[in-house]
Amino acid sequence: MTNSSSARCKSLLGWYRRHARILPWRETCEPYPIWISEIMLQQTQVQTVLPRYRQWFDIFPDIASLANASVDTVLKCWQGLGYYRRARLLHQAARHIMQQHQGHFPQQFDQILALPGIGKSTAGAIASFCFAARTPVLDGNVKRVLRRWHALPDASERMLWQQAQAAIDISPDPAIWNQAMMELGATRCGRTPDCAACPVRRHCASAFQQAPAWNTSRKTTIQHVHWQVHLHLHPERGIWLVRREENGIWGGLWAPPITELPRAPAQSPCHIHPLTHRRLHLYALHRHETPSGNGQWCRHLTTHALPTGILRLLRKHRLIDAEHRLCGLDEQ
Ligand code: ADE
Repeated sequence: MTNSSSARCKSLLGWYRRHARILPWRETCEPYPIWISEIMLQQTQVQTVLPRYRQWFDIFPDIASLANASVDTVLKCWQGLGYYRRARLLHQAARHIMQQHQGHFPQQFDQILALPGIGKSTAGAIASFCFAARTPVLDGNVKRVLRRWHALPDASERMLWQQAQAAIDISPDPAIWNQAMMELGATRCGRTPDCAACPVRRHCASAFQQAPAWNTSRKTTIQHVHWQVHLHLHPERGIWLVRREENGIWGGLWAPPITELPRAPAQSPCHIHPLTHRRLHLYALHRHETPSGNGQWCRHLTTHALPTGILRLLRKHRLIDAEHRLCGLDEQ
């Protein structure tokens, strides 16, 4: 242990004790709620997660209730959080825990890592928070912090894991250490760092550097796609929905039939829905013939999980109200 890394550890933990946000998943050591929070937080902001995290346990109070639910109920509860694969894998993992672990969340890192939807970093978080294992978290925030501390913008995954392990090995409490690293990455050492307010700036090789290469915003190429959304509407039966293929965009969710257009049409889209790597331009097309193929008429959208982009499109067409109830079908 170097003097500098132990001083950095002390400064970070002191700051975390005084400044950490109070978040509900930090008030428990129970694996079930911690697991749910970690999966929700993987690609979704804390502020979005907070209300959804609380609601989740009204519907699925324990692992057994999640395992016994239908995948549609789980997807419905996930509606609006995005990256729906997470919900399907949560459901599979709950079933795995019932079958392989008699309904008890596993305690060993390797058993946690073997659960569907859990990678090394999430397994590290759960094992440290619930079972005091010395297993580091290495999510996007923590990677950025470590790269800056060591001024290694191009550090490989392997090197980052080594640094993360070395850091947690000298910390007195692995759970608090992981929380503190995530907190620093989220609140001080974001993509644009706030070095003046950073508790470890004295021990950071990149502090106050003018726009180092790794400060700049993420370079993702956005692909624009143009989708025709086929609206079959019926005054009594409602709207025709099909279940989307598991492996594609909005996998497993329900939506009107969609076809991809080869190029942007002359008219402007009814709604543009941004995803991480794609921008979906959605064009509504009213269809008057009877739909065919696998699908369902749906009268109450409360029973089906629909993507937010489709809900926005339906809202713009005044086909659903603010509570997502179908309306205005007689006027079509
Ligand atoms: N992001 C991922 N895990 C988190 C946690 N436990 N607290 C805050 N943000 C997080």
